[in-house]
Amino acid sequence: MSRKGLSQRMQVAMNEQIKAELDSAYLYLALSAEMESRNLKGFAHWLRIQWEEELAHGLKLYDFLLQRDAKVELHALEKPKIDPEQTTLEIFTHVLEHEQYITSRINQLYALAQEDQDYGSQTLLHWFIEEQMEEEESAREIMDNLRLVGESGAALFLLDRELGQRSDAPEDDG
Ligand SMILES: [Fe+2]
Ligand SMILES: [Fe+2]
Repeated sequence: MSRKGLSQRMQVAMNEQIKAELDSAYLYLALSAEMESRNLKGFAHWLRIQWEEELAHGLKLYDFLLQRDAKVELHALEKPKIDPEQTTLEIFTHVLEHEQYITSRINQLYALAQEDQDYGSQTLLHWFIEEQMEEEESAREIMDNLRLVGESGAALFLLDRELGQRSDAPEDDG
């Protein structure tokens, strides 16, 4: 156990979570390129901002490990699985499932922090728990919209334009 009390297993788990966040970033960047190839520039823009957000999540954990005097260990990233045959709705279903997977990982980290009586990690993870609820909500919202408008036509064009207006989310420093 390090001097400031981050357990060895928490250190390992946090490093694995950095990888999971960067895997998410990589997935969204690949999906952004896929949307560009479909000429859905608004979707592409939205996913590219999502890429930036996931990088920021990885950095938040990285900074936390350094702050706690723990060792940062960066792992190799996964090659994103992109299926060009998938409809846009199927792609966003995949996005939701991915975010649900990340939520379950965050919940496991929180359970570990409780077992360790590691209150510093719990405080950090509160931010991530909140963030995951928002991430799942926005994926669901896009899925709902896609179900309403379908995969082509004027309504999809308008939805694409709306998503293209997403501005950089102000990064909470919490
Ligand atoms: Fe994330
Ligand atoms: Fe995410």
